[in-house]
Amino acid sequence: MPRLIWLLAALATSWAPAVLSSSLDHFALQKVLTDASPIFGDYSHTSTSKAEWMKKYPDDTLLVHMNIPGTHDSATWNYTQATQDANRGITELNQVAPPVPEALRCQQLPLIDMLNMGIRVFDLRYAFDPTNTSIIFYHSQGLLSETVSLDNVLFGFYRWLDDHPSEALFLSLQYEGSTAKYASNNAALQNKLFYTLTSAAARHYFVQTKNRLGTLGQARGKITLLRRFDLDRLPSSYTDSLPGLHFSPSQWEDNGVNISLTYNSKENLTAYIEDYYQPLTPFGSNATENIQWKYNATTTNLIKAAAQHQDSLFWTWASGTNTLNAPPDWPRTMALGNGSLMPSGGVNQRLLEFFKQQKGKRLGMVMFDFFDQPSELVDTFLQI
Ligand SMILES: *[C@@H]1O[C@H](CO)[C@@H](O)[C@H](O)[C@H]1NC(C)=O
Ligand SMILES: *[C@@H]1O[C@H](CO)[C@@H](O)[C@H](O)[C@H]1NC(C)=O
Ligand SMILES: *[C@@H]1O[C@H](CO)[C@@H](O)[C@H](O)[C@H]1NC(C)=O
Ligand SMILES: *[C@@H]1O[C@H](CO)[C@@H](O)[C@H](O)[C@H]1NC(C)=O
Ligand SMILES: *[C@@H]1O[C@H](CO)[C@@H](O)[C@H](O)[C@H]1NC(C)=O
Ligand SMILES: *[C@@H]1O[C@H](CO)[C@@H](O)[C@H](O)[C@H]1NC(C)=O
Ligand SMILES: *[C@@H]1O[C@H](CO)[C@@H](O)[C@H](O)[C@H]1NC(C)=O
Repeated sequence: MPRLIWLLAALATSWAPAVLSSSLDHFALQKVLTDASPIFGDYSHTSTSKAEWMKKYPDDTLLVHMNIPGTHDSATWNYTQATQDANRGITELNQVAPPVPEALRCQQLPLIDMLNMGIRVFDLRYAFDPTNTSIIFYHSQGLLSETVSLDNVLFGFYRWLDDHPSEALFLSLQYEGSTAKYASNNAALQNKLFYTLTSAAARHYFVQTKNRLGTLGQARGKITLLRRFDLDRLPSSYTDSLPGLHFSPSQWEDNGVNISLTYNSKENLTAYIEDYYQPLTPFGSNATENIQWKYNATTTNLIKAAAQHQDSLFWTWASGTNTLNAPPDWPRTMALGNGSLMPSGGVNQRLLEFFKQQKGKRLGMVMFDFFDQPSELVDTFLQI
């Protein structure tokens, strides 16, 4: 193909920005986004009202007063048997076999769809790849992609924010333990993470304030880091220069039904968190009972959010699983139930009904599994 026609074809089929300052910039970004796509999805630009729902709130709205939907284990959307099989050569080097993919899969749409469908809080779990070279994404032993780095995914968010400057994103980053036999949250990993989060691009796109949530206006067009990691292997000056809110793993009670985590002790700023992901039902309890326990813990925190501590952050995780049970309750069953066998549905169907009763209430940040089902779930949450 002649060069010009090839260039025109490339322009016509891509998301080419209106002003193409230099083709090299354009091609470089396109390469990064292509590299990111197995986790981020194929970049697409939409400007529906849902893609820009934050436009309807004034700049001076306090973020803690808003209802902001998120996804739990956002990067697991393509963790199928095919993906697990494709990565087997790498995971076998580590001598820890992952469980069945259903145990780890919590979503079914890519990050770009989440963004365009209104999701604003993302939960990414990272560790080194097996060669200790790049920071990649896992859910437990599930290697979600060997090639997609945190860096590349961040560029996907940056690009989307350029297209949607009214929106504010929140990124929960957490070190995922037990990914592999020799994995370690060591100084090399922490150092690499630090440089990723303090690069020129990150300084531009991340909100730079520390341990406080301000107004929507201050957060628009940017990512607020929800830092679920410590840099405990590095000098404290590293930690001091990281922005965002710190939720130390040491203070985040595992399977906590009712966590109060003070992220700013000087100003007494506390987050009220529910992360009861594994209902402690009696062994052998059926899925309906597990869903009931999870729904109960979730709505208990949401009812508290609606009524108490109006100026504090509430962060509720609607995601659950019960892998200890027999038969196990996978994240999908917990979120969505099992069709006509369970007429009252999973946590999501029940939350849909709950949200309809909460008109005008502040509920805070809520993290969903399989956020796109039922299809009215996020819309209903946003209309509260
Ligand atoms: C999902 O994973 C499969 C298997 O690894 C892969 O072939 C497919 O391209 C992936 N889908 C997307 C949309 O990236
Ligand atoms: C990666 O780092 C871990 C922890 O320090 C170490 O045990 C392992 O041997 C390293 N792997 C490679 C391939 O260098
Ligand atoms: C939640 O924690 C607070 C403070 O620790 C306590 O007062 C309250 O009773 C707890 N609520 C539930 C439902 O466990
Ligand atoms: C901190 O705030 C909590 C409520 O959010 C309150 O119960 C407590 O007394 C406050 N502590 C201080 C030292 O102000
Ligand atoms: C689940 O267990 C509860 C309590 O044992 C029981 O009442 C209910 O009928 C069971 N549901 C199904 C679908 O088996
Ligand atoms: C509901 O959850 C609350 C708070 O976790 C707990 O105190 C209560 O016992 C639970 N009730 C049921 C029926 O599970
Ligand atoms: C749904 O119920 C059927 C019949 O009991 C069972 O075989 C299947 O494993 C269940 N699926 C899920 C996702 O729980």
